[in-house]
Amino acid sequence: MYLTKEEERMLEGEYGNVVARCMKLLVKLGEKFGAERMVEVRSVQIAGVSYKNIGDPGLEFLEGFANEGAKVKVTSFMNPAGMPMEGWEEIGIPSDFAEKQKRVIEAFRKMGVIVASTCTPYLAGMLPRFREHIAWSESSAVAFSNSVVGARTNREGGPSALAAAITGRTPYYGFHLDENRNPNFVVRVDAELKSISDYGALGCVVGKAKGKGVPYFTGIKHAGIDELKSLGASLAAYGAVALFHVEGITPEARKGCVDVENVEETIDVGEKELKEAYEAMSSELEDVELIAVGCPHASINEIREICELLKGKKLKVPMWIFTSQAVKSIAKRAGISEELEKAGAKLIEDTCPVVAPLDVLGIKKVAVNSGKAAFYLPNTNKQMVLFDDISRIIDKFAE
Ligand code: F3S
Repeated sequence: MYLTKEEERMLEGEYGNVVARCMKLLVKLGEKFGAERMVEVRSVQIAGVSYKNIGDPGLEFLEGFANEGAKVKVTSFMNPAGMPMEGWEEIGIPSDFAEKQKRVIEAFRKMGVIVASTCTPYLAGMLPRFREHIAWSESSAVAFSNSVVGARTNREGGPSALAAAITGRTPYYGFHLDENRNPNFVVRVDAELKSISDYGALGCVVGKAKGKGVPYFTGIKHAGIDELKSLGASLAAYGAVALFHVEGITPEARKGCVDVENVEETIDVGEKELKEAYEAMSSELEDVELIAVGCPHASINEIREICELLKGKKLKVPMWIFTSQAVKSIAKRAGISEELEKAGAKLIEDTCPVVAPLDVLGIKKVAVNSGKAAFYLPNTNKQMVLFDDISRIIDKFAE
């Protein structure tokens, strides 16, 4: 693998042991995937933050690395943690969990990682540019940045993302290369997609049918940021999709950068398939203990729409809307948080329904409008899940 003089110096330890170890890891990764060289990255998003997921071994590794003097070289955001930084007691997080989680965050902070704690960094101040090389790791953030922004990233693991942050490099292979960004199959959508959950159901159908690859969607007339982030999250959860194109909507499809003419495989998705997906993704629950929204983290637009739906209503069960600190502070300033609280909804920053220990909090049944949350919650958090459109959830659990 070709390395520049600077990269060789990093590998040989001229910048210290931590940088050398990171470069070694990246070279190994590059060799495994046949990368000819490294590419400089402009931003990094690091997963593997929740103490629930990484446990003591992860905590010890991160503290050790930070104590050895690891420092990030490029702007790096952290994924959601297992709890909000403030008010964790109010939602019942045990203090031993909180203490460990704070140590994880402190280790990242010491390394210079921005404690933004979000899977939607593109809504919180770290928006890449078209064709920019980045190294992101949370699967929905990867799908969004590749597909909706047209930036270039593979799905990095926690260690490779951290190594990219510390060296400013990632191996040049996979989705960094033009030739791997072409669609492998076409998805003809013949259904009216009306809500974020419809896009989650579509992601479920396609992810399950194909597993991986690069889909090219046709038949989607309008899709905004919220719909596309829901679609990408679901495609990544039910399959391993890290890049998708939507005819007339996503940038590489719009600019004619991809060759769809020679794609032979097509799958059709209509109302019937979407209805079947809803049935498969949801349990028939008459009661739930929590409504969890914001997977991926909610945008200000989603929060505002939920606030509208809740006007004049009172929720019979708590609603937690997960979002970034940045978006929460906008909602607060706009008076939306207050309105939501009157209706029984709460904005929760820094964490998410999947990486927070809901099971430990005694919650067993959750209503969600996210395809990705419907996929993960039964396994990671032992939850029974009601998956539906948010307006129907509100109709059912508010008066
Ligand atoms: Fe984000 Fe957590 Fe969902 S990281 S995509 S809110 S599982």
